[in-house]
Amino acid sequence: MKHFFSINQLTNQEIYRIIQNAWKYKKENATVSKQLFAANLFFEPSTRTKMSFIVAERKLGLEVLDFHADSSSLKKGESLYDTVKTFESIGANVAIIRHESDDWINELASGINIPIINAGAGKKEHPTQCLLDLLTIYEEFGTFKNLNIVIVGDIIHSRVAKSNAHALRRLGANVYLSAAPGFEDDSLDFPYVSIDEATQICDVVMLLRIQHERHTENNQHVKYLEQFGLTKERKNKMKKNAIILHPAPINRGVEIDNDLVECDQSRIFKQMNNGVYVRMALLTHVLQEWGIIDENLVKERY
Ligand code: CP
Repeated sequence: MKHFFSINQLTNQEIYRIIQNAWKYKKENATVSKQLFAANLFFEPSTRTKMSFIVAERKLGLEVLDFHADSSSLKKGESLYDTVKTFESIGANVAIIRHESDDWINELASGINIPIINAGAGKKEHPTQCLLDLLTIYEEFGTFKNLNIVIVGDIIHSRVAKSNAHALRRLGANVYLSAAPGFEDDSLDFPYVSIDEATQICDVVMLLRIQHERHTENNQHVKYLEQFGLTKERKNKMKKNAIILHPAPINRGVEIDNDLVECDQSRIFKQMNNGVYVRMALLTHVLQEWGIIDENLVKERY
């Protein structure tokens, strides 16, 4: 396996195996029985992804190397490549990277001899968010086949939308998009529906944050919630077993009514919990693929 940058690098069978292993790690702990170091290199802000990688690494018994871009030698002009190469040189066995560039992996594609896991690349890919969303959906329905899944919001600026749309279609779901004017992404070949249609047909509604930090154009929508978001009226028209997802952070009262964030059909905080176990499963998958651990080096701990 090369560096893990895109969800498209995993076969369907590998995705199901990661989901199964995440389930296993929910029930029983597992530790890697040799000393390994994980470097968490976040060049963009993160709460959930960074902290759940740290919890996943510690649960697996990895030593965690923390990194703060603002107080690192990046400030002296050091490149991304030299930063990662430095961590490899001092003994990191795996690097977890988030960066604002869509294509940061290109700078690291050759010359880095430890596995890299993508924890978010610009507007392009967020494969571990995708995996935890897949786990959450699979736990709910036991299948992806023929589920109506609508991804709603700031599609064009969303790496979550891109990773999820392709993976879910490949797994058999019917994927739809819903976006306010200016938030559509013509590069994605999926049908668009209105938010009213979305909420009536969906088994899963996946809401996205408006990513103001990535906007170069002025796309201000007044009354966004009423026009394009999940209001209480729309939620009441959803199927009773349909679920609400959001990768978070959430703009409460913008893409979703504040009262719905923790409603009976919301799985938003469950997604965050699932993030820990899916990242444990992905870490062991990548470390095994690179021959850094074998299955016998993952010991169950009771
Ligand atoms: N969902 C997600 O990637 O959240 P963070 O930006 O807090 O990591």
